[in-house]
Amino acid sequence: MNADELQAIVEKVRSSRSGKKHRVAVCAAAGCLSSGGEAALAAFKAAIAEAGLADQVELFGTGCLGLCHAGPLVQVESGGDGCGEPGRICRCMYQKVDPAAAVEIVREHMAKGKPVDALRIPEDDPFFKEQTKIVLGNSGRIDPGVNLIIATGQNNLAMNKTVAQIARHFIDGKKEITEGRLNRVEAGIRAYDPCLSCSTHAMGRMPLTVRLVGPGGEVLAERSRW
Ligand code: FES
Repeated sequence: MNADELQAIVEKVRSSRSGKKHRVAVCAAAGCLSSGGEAALAAFKAAIAEAGLADQVELFGTGCLGLCHAGPLVQVESGGDGCGEPGRICRCMYQKVDPAAAVEIVREHMAKGKPVDALRIPEDDPFFKEQTKIVLGNSGRIDPGVNLIIATGQNNLAMNKTVAQIARHFIDGKKEITEGRLNRVEAGIRAYDPCLSCSTHAMGRMPLTVRLVGPGGEVLAERSRW
């Protein structure tokens, strides 16, 4: 994918969001799916269509929102006068959203701008107040239905050290890089960075080349697997 193609995706997402008053993120992670998240998502879809609000609401499934035991969890982000407070973006987290609750949220919050207090988790809930989300920091903000996964590089230093240790132990002093030695190196990479392994696997096999270099920079042996 090149920069123009990436930009085209950005524009497509921007135009699909423009004019929307509400973003409704229904937790679609394992905990909430097991407590009825799928039914809640379907109920939102139907109620939004019935209320004629499809052009004002962006509805999507998202990753874990944090309070799994109170699922299905739903986060509604409203701008404009979407929650009765003109000029302010407000964020409401709803808990135990069954299909009936989903219909109520659409009718009250989205159609009338009145959040349903009985279903809301207070903004100062101690569970959320005491934590700083890192890995799940963007849950509820991004739609995980992505078509591109970029390999992460945060573990490069650890992987480099591991590969060096493996090379010293299994390859040092031997001229041949056998399939088994190649596997040892691969295992070291996978142990540290499942993101890298998964993302490269998504496009086929993980390309791997191990090259044994002598003290003068000359290549003594090489083995690849594609
Ligand atoms: S799985 Fe939904 S909040 Fe964790």
